[in-house]
Amino acid sequence: IESARKEREELYRILRSAADFFYDQLHHSPEGRIAREYIARRGLPAEVVETERMGFAPQSWDSLSRHLANLGYDVEPGIGAGLLARSTGKDRVYDRFRNRLIFPIRDEGGRIVAFGGRSLSADLKDEPKYLNSPETAVYHKGRLLYQLARAREACRQVRQTVLVEGYMDLLAFHARGFFRVVATLGTALTPHQVRILSRMSDEVVMAYDGDEAGDKAMLRGLPLFLQENVAVSCVRFPDGMDPDDFLRRDGLEGFEKLLRSRQELGAYAVKRILDGWDGSASARLKIAAELRPIFDAVRQPLLKSEYLRLAADRLCVSEEVLNQQLRHDRRTPE
Ligand code: UTP
Ligand code: MN
Ligand code: MN
Ligand code: MN
Ligand code: MN
Repeated sequence: IESARKEREELYRILRSAADFFYDQLHHSPEGRIAREYIARRGLPAEVVETERMGFAPQSWDSLSRHLANLGYDVEPGIGAGLLARSTGKDRVYDRFRNRLIFPIRDEGGRIVAFGGRSLSADLKDEPKYLNSPETAVYHKGRLLYQLARAREACRQVRQTVLVEGYMDLLAFHARGFFRVVATLGTALTPHQVRILSRMSDEVVMAYDGDEAGDKAMLRGLPLFLQENVAVSCVRFPDGMDPDDFLRRDGLEGFEKLLRSRQELGAYAVKRILDGWDGSASARLKIAAELRPIFDAVRQPLLKSEYLRLAADRLCVSEEVLNQQLRHDRRTPE
């Protein structure tokens, strides 16, 4: 146990050193100019870049690994921290993050535990747009949220947390002085994250990208909130915009207007499902089946009765009949 603690301390140390290296590369290397220009183009203020200690990972395969070796680190902690990787079959070690804008990811105590890296290459065909650290002894992406520490502080006053998909979305809020916001770390929302959110706030507002993918991801999150009994609502951005796009166009004022018109997520989901009904009697069964997971997950009688009323109304059946159908479906899984 003592040695596991020592090992983690070593990871924290090497992650710090890597963050310093990326930071230095961003500000003081000729190559870093590409990243500095990118930051300017994206409209990220210098203040946010500084506070976050954002960085730049150069194009080369071994600039970080050489730097860490010069500082006296062995290869193992570099690999353990997710900074370096071993090429399969060979004994070669290479830098995981290359030619990327670097977002340090901190744990609840403010320590750097991982990085997100946005590709700076013009062509995203051959590589993922974002690359994130793998799971390590100090980083469990399903148990952390991006900017959790900062948001928790901000949520002391207003116990409402906004949840977004992306690093850039989140920092676009910070750039405008709004800090009650966290992001998932490139994975689907987990029950653990929902519990974290429920402890720091009374309501979570999902503000995912305004495209089909964002909509689907929000709806997938719904059962988690219902099961944990956490009040959850959503806002939708127009024209497929994400929060970053929207804040650039309409500012925080525009967002606050959206926020005031937020919808409870379950009601939104029920309406969405019913929008898919063609009005035919035969499709009613299909719609009922789509509704079932929501009704299975909801714990609050008041919410349940509201969903039931919404759905029965639109399906032109009585609430009682719809309720019976949902119970019937539950007893006879296909
Ligand atoms: P998006 O594709 O919506 O990117 O992914 P974005 O945040 O709007 O980024 P920009 O504005 O194009 O720079 C949303 C989030 O999903 C994760 C990242 O956390 C990203 O911020 N993601 C996306 C990945 O982990 N890998 C990817 O290849 C793409
Ligand atoms: Mn883990
Ligand atoms: Mn997206
Ligand atoms: Mn996006
Ligand atoms: Mn974006």
